[in-house]
Amino acid sequence: MKYDIKDAKLKNQGVLKIEWAERNMPVLRNIKKRLEKQKPFKGIRIAACLHVTTETANLMRTLKAGGAEVVLTASNPLSTQDEVAAALVKAFQIPTFAIKGESNKIYYQHLKSTLSIKPHITMDDGADLVSTIHKTHRKLIKDIIGGTEETTTGVIRLKSMAANNVLEFPIIAVNDSYTKFLFDNRYGTGQSTIDGILRATNVLIAGGDFVVCGYGWCSKGIAKRAAGMGARVIVTEVDPIKAIEAVMDGFTVMPIADAAKIGDIFVTATGDINVIRMEHFQKMKEGAIVANSGHFNVELDLDTLRKKSKKKRDIRNSVREYTLKNGKKIYILSEGRLVNLSAAEGHPAIVMDMSFANQTLAAEFILKNAKKLEKKVYKLPDELDINIANLKLKTMGIKIDKLTPEQIEYLNSWELGT
Ligand code: ADE
Repeated sequence: MKYDIKDAKLKNQGVLKIEWAERNMPVLRNIKKRLEKQKPFKGIRIAACLHVTTETANLMRTLKAGGAEVVLTASNPLSTQDEVAAALVKAFQIPTFAIKGESNKIYYQHLKSTLSIKPHITMDDGADLVSTIHKTHRKLIKDIIGGTEETTTGVIRLKSMAANNVLEFPIIAVNDSYTKFLFDNRYGTGQSTIDGILRATNVLIAGGDFVVCGYGWCSKGIAKRAAGMGARVIVTEVDPIKAIEAVMDGFTVMPIADAAKIGDIFVTATGDINVIRMEHFQKMKEGAIVANSGHFNVELDLDTLRKKSKKKRDIRNSVREYTLKNGKKIYILSEGRLVNLSAAEGHPAIVMDMSFANQTLAAEFILKNAKKLEKKVYKLPDELDINIANLKLKTMGIKIDKLTPEQIEYLNSWELGT
């Protein structure tokens, strides 16, 4: 078995952490039990490019239990948990190519190594696997029946490929399931982003001015959690509707050029490039802390910050100090890479449970519908999404009401009014 990990001796530590996460993934465990019996993925090769975390390890084990041959590469150079990679290889015999802190060059080498499996199904978080296949590994396309995509940024990239008629196989946008984005993006990113900032800096959130750039599902979660910890939250937006939402959720909304002067902590989660630029860094207060929680490390213009700083040094793990020419110091977390997975451990297992239940059902859906699916980006059918929600409620011990026949009839009729 080929693999590339930091240190095989971390295996036992990784196994314990994977088991710890598994305790909080009851929906995935339930699906795994069924797949173990049915083995729907027998003979199917799956190449996955996901954050190498304890939760991902449980997804890989689930697919393997269902008969798949799986191989995993990191979807970000800084998000890998090395002990998890060691356990995947040495305890669970799942080939893994991931080392925390790997260079961009090694990141792409690893990605290409997973493609030597000649996948039938791809599983992406950010669409780097699919884009590499389309750019440099086109020979593989003939064997691929479909792929899944985990995150908003990846779905945007893949929809742009479909719109430009260059997408060569169907994709299930796992991100677009309600049981994914309403929970993982909002509560997962909300908590894990604050967790990353705290582990990196140990600053007090209460009483500070906390600027959140963007007001999508991830940013909504970050803003809510920062407010919950006592910060005064400012939101910046380009979308007028989201800006009104932020105002009515109780936040102050203003352009980043104005927020730059006020914030103690800044977090971007917009999915776009150069959201915080040199003109903003220059206006910031001495000691401002700046982090990104969006998928790619493009939201902070660090190239210009590097060029225009007279000095830089690492202060603590994940904290780099930049001294500007005017002597002001700015602190960038995790090199502008997603702070929740670089400085902390990503979203807790209890929300990844639903996300990865969606991934598993999406792979099964591709398998069952391969002949019918076109080269488009699809959402998982609502009944599967609802099925996951029902399973989750059951595992939480929560019962809900059912519509009475009379209520169903009322909803289906147009005659009854006032
Ligand atoms: N994305 C965000 N949190 C994650 C986690 N814990 N595992 C895998 N992918 C993630």
